[in-house]
Amino acid sequence: MTDSPLPSVNKVAPGGRLLVIGLGLIGGSLSLAARQRHLFSEVIGASRSPETLRKALELGVVDRVESDLPMVLASLRAGDIVVVGVPTLTVPKIIAQLQEYLPPEVSFTDVASVKGSIVTAVKAIYGTVPEQFVPGHPIAGSEKSGVSASLPDLYDDHRVILTPLAATAEVHTARVRAMWSGVGATVSEMSVEEHDEVLAATSHLPHLLAYSLVDTLASMEENREIFRYAAGGFRDFTRIAASDPIMWHDITLANSAAIVEVLDSVTSHLQSLRTAILSGDSEHLLGVFTRAKEARHHFQIMLDNKAYLQTMDSTEIQYRVEAGGVLQGQARVPGDKSISHRAIMLGSLAEGITEVSGFLEGEDSLATLQAFRDMGVVIEGPDKGRVVIHGVGLQGLKAPAGPLYLGNSGTSMRLLVGILAGQTFDSVLTGDESLSTRPMKRVADPLALMGAEIETGEGGTPPLRILGNHSLQSIDYNLPMASAQVKSCLLLAGLYANGETSVTEPAPTRDHTERMLRGFGYEVKTDKGRVSLNGDGVLQGGPIDVPSDISSATFFMVAASIAEGSDITLSHVGINPTRIGVINILRLMGGDITLLNERLAGGEPVADIRVRSSVLKGIAIPEEQVPLAIDEFPAIFVAAACAEGTTLLTGAEELRVKESDRIQAMADGLAILGISAKPTADGIVIEGGQIQSGEVDSLGDHRIAMSFAIAGLRASGPILIRNCNNVATSFPGFVDVSNSLGLKLGEVNQ
Ligand code: S3P
Repeated sequence: MTDSPLPSVNKVAPGGRLLVIGLGLIGGSLSLAARQRHLFSEVIGASRSPETLRKALELGVVDRVESDLPMVLASLRAGDIVVVGVPTLTVPKIIAQLQEYLPPEVSFTDVASVKGSIVTAVKAIYGTVPEQFVPGHPIAGSEKSGVSASLPDLYDDHRVILTPLAATAEVHTARVRAMWSGVGATVSEMSVEEHDEVLAATSHLPHLLAYSLVDTLASMEENREIFRYAAGGFRDFTRIAASDPIMWHDITLANSAAIVEVLDSVTSHLQSLRTAILSGDSEHLLGVFTRAKEARHHFQIMLDNKAYLQTMDSTEIQYRVEAGGVLQGQARVPGDKSISHRAIMLGSLAEGITEVSGFLEGEDSLATLQAFRDMGVVIEGPDKGRVVIHGVGLQGLKAPAGPLYLGNSGTSMRLLVGILAGQTFDSVLTGDESLSTRPMKRVADPLALMGAEIETGEGGTPPLRILGNHSLQSIDYNLPMASAQVKSCLLLAGLYANGETSVTEPAPTRDHTERMLRGFGYEVKTDKGRVSLNGDGVLQGGPIDVPSDISSATFFMVAASIAEGSDITLSHVGINPTRIGVINILRLMGGDITLLNERLAGGEPVADIRVRSSVLKGIAIPEEQVPLAIDEFPAIFVAAACAEGTTLLTGAEELRVKESDRIQAMADGLAILGISAKPTADGIVIEGGQIQSGEVDSLGDHRIAMSFAIAGLRASGPILIRNCNNVATSFPGFVDVSNSLGLKLGEVNQ
């Protein structure tokens, strides 16, 4: 289905007239809206009922009324529009009159809820579909009916579906489209068949069920008693059973085949619920209810046309951290962001069920989850870190209805584009202000070498448009930069390529994609810096235990190191060797860090990390540690500000293209807090000193916000941090965990 761009109302020929035949709620509201908005030179109403015509005039629904239909039809000219607004089964009678009297240059459309039967009737009467006929269906209405129920704003923000046929001339479609957008509707187009299937499921069946439930309850002996208590659920569910019976009789018979098909599915679904109830099968019941609840939530967001990340649009959150504090105790920080993204992606592309525990319920990984739901994957949860993904297989994704919105999440976008390059459908990826400035050529260029076609925004940034149906060729690619996102993107595209795809990296980067692919039974070879896989395999879903994110644990590792007298343990943290740069660097600076209970969880090494305070000293950070600590530098800079002497970072130009330019953002903030921090092209030079009180801006970058929060532990007075909403992208609950360990951190809503 495509939402057509709204043509200007002027496309309705000046001086054009509108004739509405049948002045019920739909026809009457259209007449009234068109009249009030001056869309036509004249709005004429026709009806079999003199009483309706009288009321229509009295209520100002039309300019004039006409009871002699043949005469008014014959008087119409090019630029005029006829709308057939009578009940579905009466439409053929009117069409017969149109065929006899309406000049061929006059556009005509209908408003019936079923399109197949109308098109069949038109073909039978005209012998072929005339080019002036534009089948249409406004998705609006209410349980009220008749001309006196007419509302001038009935179509505002409602959809109208047009189903033009091959024979329909564009000039007529454009005219009808302009009429509907002129009365406030959003106009979409789809095929007749698609329309009837979609409407059978979303409109016709719900009406049938509502009528059936009320009729069943009404015929029960104790019906009086039942209805006395029938508030809540009954009222919500059966509102539409007050709709016009003739109309629904007609619709049901006109779309019988599609309705019976979906009715059969619901009947067998109800039968299996019945069996589950009788046998006390809680899992079945819970499965149905959770899936339905999630799907309902998802549809609501689509219906409301809202971004998934609602909290992100809300008012600015600021942090205020009081000076000083000692960290004590134990905490478990949220799940690993990188692994959570990959669990959703690979779980969706796998065969069978993937059950994830420890999933990060942060905005970034939720954006990935939402994207896969938008592509038809059933995903239950998240519920306290538990997510159940019903994999659709490598070829099972469906075209999303609109652009996939990925919020702040670079990982979602860069990894997804690799998967989408291998699909048969086109897709569009968009993001928030920060993501919309981030470099995407690093993935688009090598994917183009594989045969993909990807359009980027100006300067190689999002939005990305990925054209489907391009068969992918494998490549041997030398990564120009150490980036796990680019590596992962190409490996995921390699799943769809013929032959062996290999990626050689200049330095080791996080290898979660490789590990998880192997965990799903997919062969991935690693030979020094070269990773390779063959296309055309199968992923087999299974359980995934997501460890706590070492990037989130970092804030407390630094915090406990710099706050004198601290001693904390962070449990179940991922210590994948490609992620432990922060531990290596803090230890080089004199940090006191002990790994306890080292073990494997779902293919990833984990440990409990004990951190005690220590006197840190400045160092030259070894460049090979940079990719292993790439997300941890903002916090490491705070450690450097509290260390004795100079800390020098080089070889880290990648930091300039993260959620913010992290070198500049930290240098600016530290300078405000009285620390000498000189940015260089690829790093920074920081002199340890006394952190002062002040007001800094995180620039909407979650890691900058959290880094300045822990700086408060060694500050001489409070620090105010602006733009902290995005902490929710990676660390929901940061304020609570911080305070439970001993920070004095509060949120200030603006
Ligand atoms: C990530 C890789 C890193 C990192 C990002 C997550 C991943 O980016 O900064 O937060 O999950 O693959 P690059 O690989 O582009 O450095």
